[in-house]
Amino acid sequence: MKEDLSRRSFMRRSATVALAAAPGVIPVLGANNKLKVGWIATGMRGYHVMGQMYLDSKDMVEVTYVCDTSKINLAKGKDLVQTKGGNTPKTTSDYRDILADPSIDVVFICAPEHLHYAMAKAALQAGKNIYLEKPVAHTIEEGAELVKLAEKSGKVVQVGTQNRSNKLYKKAKDMFEDGMLGQVHYVRAFWYRNFDPSVDPKKGVPAAWRYIIPEGADESNSDWQKFLGNAPKRPFDIHRYYQWRNYWDYSGGISTDLLVHQTDASNFVLNKTLPSCCMASGGIYMWGAPDDREVPDTLSALYEYPDKFHLNYSCYFGNDQFGYGEQFLGSEGTLEVLDRKTLNYIPQKYAGKVIKGRQEVHLDYLKDFNQPDATAAHVNNFLLAVQGKAKAIAPMRAGQIAAIPGHMATLSYKNNKKIWWDEKTEKYHFT
Ligand SMILES: NC(=O)c1ccc[n+]([C@@H]2O[C@H](COP(=O)([O-])OP(=O)(O)OC[C@H]3O[C@@H](n4cnc5c(N)ncnc54)[C@H](O)[C@@H]3O)[C@@H](O)[C@H]2O)c1
Repeated sequence: MKEDLSRRSFMRRSATVALAAAPGVIPVLGANNKLKVGWIATGMRGYHVMGQMYLDSKDMVEVTYVCDTSKINLAKGKDLVQTKGGNTPKTTSDYRDILADPSIDVVFICAPEHLHYAMAKAALQAGKNIYLEKPVAHTIEEGAELVKLAEKSGKVVQVGTQNRSNKLYKKAKDMFEDGMLGQVHYVRAFWYRNFDPSVDPKKGVPAAWRYIIPEGADESNSDWQKFLGNAPKRPFDIHRYYQWRNYWDYSGGISTDLLVHQTDASNFVLNKTLPSCCMASGGIYMWGAPDDREVPDTLSALYEYPDKFHLNYSCYFGNDQFGYGEQFLGSEGTLEVLDRKTLNYIPQKYAGKVIKGRQEVHLDYLKDFNQPDATAAHVNNFLLAVQGKAKAIAPMRAGQIAAIPGHMATLSYKNNKKIWWDEKTEKYHFT
């Protein structure tokens, strides 16, 4: 029988698994009534997510263990716990120390993409609930294994696709489900960035994903072998370590780093799941030599879904005029979420008349919802789910369904071929 991967069906399945496992997953809280947290990786994202956690969920958590293989970032993470949490965590450069600690209830995994699989697998096997940054994994196959493990474990997993906790996207979903868009067969999604190539790399970001290397970072304080994990061995390279997004061994590039947020938003709002095919194209056009980047800075990807639906994605790092957004083009109205901060709804006109006399809607994230960054709400939803008081809004399966189109785009780009997804076998092939 053809496996039913519709959103409703997978949500139903996830709910069944979660409910079945519920009594086993709720941790017994310690004396201070707080979940004990182990934190893996306090780089740019890990540090930010931790700060967001302390905003809305401080009373629910105690970070007792922090791990990072950069001594500089580890010190920053420890300092944040001390400053915001008011306690001093243990520290380590080996994440397995955290997983071996039976007092830890939940683990945040904010390491580079290529390490997600090994860390998440080991964390689930150690019986931890996990907040796992996107993309779920570095390959489709690794992600599929993690979905199986997660659902079997009954542990709570929240993938870091925080748009699901953004009230604008929830509003967009409600408006679509209330019929305000009519039929939607077409979505445009885009993410444009601009970086100044004249900037001194020591003082700022000279080019996309040439993020600033922490001052004083070198081989002595950046554990290269642990960073590599299962990636191919090679001599220490500080750019690969701190700017890993630019290299295929550690990143799927734009597709798995950025696009996954937007396929996820489209899935979430329109109740979609997986595309049937994708064609991607692009290149490394910006900034020129000397430059050993491998991933494109310019990418377009076209997706066809099985149910008469098309997603048109574009990303370019050379001009940010149009920013970030998803535009849902419906037969009765256009809905766009821009920069994750503004929602506009404009009803369609036919023969000069606004359909069904509908009004335009304009919402501002901060003004109308007082929600500056959805990450705080996303983490809070995760922690409530661990306590058995809510359902995680971005379980592993949803994260994998968002990531598969990203991997498809990377594979299409790298192989210069159209890629097809077979819903039945859950495998891809090229034509
Ligand atoms: N949800 C979002 O909006 C969002 C935004 C940015 C990044 N991310 C995701 O967060 C993850 C991290 O990205 P980042 O920008 O923080 O990267 P980063 O390079 O700034 O930080 C990665 C950190 O991991 C550490 N690290 C490397 N190997 C390790 C190991 N074996 N054990 C422990 N620590 C290790 C590094 O020292 C570094 O501190 C990625 O998966 C990325 O896609 C998500």
